[in-house]
Amino acid sequence: VRIAVFASGSGSNFTAIEQACREGELQAEIVHVITDKPDAYVIERAKQAEIPVTVLRPKAFESKAAHEHAVIDILQAAETEWIILAGYMRLIGPNLLSAYPSRIINIHPSLLPSFPGKDAIGQAIEHGVKVTGVTVHLVDAGMDTGPILAQEAVRVIEGDAEGTAEVIHKVEHVLYKETLKMLFEK
Ligand code: GRF
Repeated sequence: VRIAVFASGSGSNFTAIEQACREGELQAEIVHVITDKPDAYVIERAKQAEIPVTVLRPKAFESKAAHEHAVIDILQAAETEWIILAGYMRLIGPNLLSAYPSRIINIHPSLLPSFPGKDAIGQAIEHGVKVTGVTVHLVDAGMDTGPILAQEAVRVIEGDAEGTAEVIHKVEHVLYKETLKMLFEK
């Protein structure tokens, strides 16, 4: 299975998936990494893993559609079959959605539909929930709204936001590869 990973930040989920592919745990190959942020650390990670990476800054394009078409051109040249969002901080628009129908997956650090959008971990702690977690879902036109594929609960560690976030990220790294494995083996 040929996959592209989209990320805007650190890319720890990229690394977890890349490692699972390299070790044969996941029958997939990351053929390209796409980022919208020229300073995203995922760029270093992709280079180290010797995976082609392209930075496409939306501002460099005249419209969201033009940006999406540039992304689609890269994906098609790399014969990408699935798009894996891993901390990609942009809404996926209609062009990408129709180019990859039911083939775009996202991971979100909360039990959706609670706490969609930015800083889901902070939102959950602020709200005072005792249990939060991780969701892997199919992407639709909404923000973190598509059909849920997998979820795992994480207990909030009282008074320790950093520790809670750390547990959530560890759960993400396992749940993402396991969910992809299930999808790709179908
Ligand atoms: C993760 O918490 C993911 O759920 C969210 O963005 C974060 C990305 O982290 N969508 P990383 O860049 O993979 O380390």
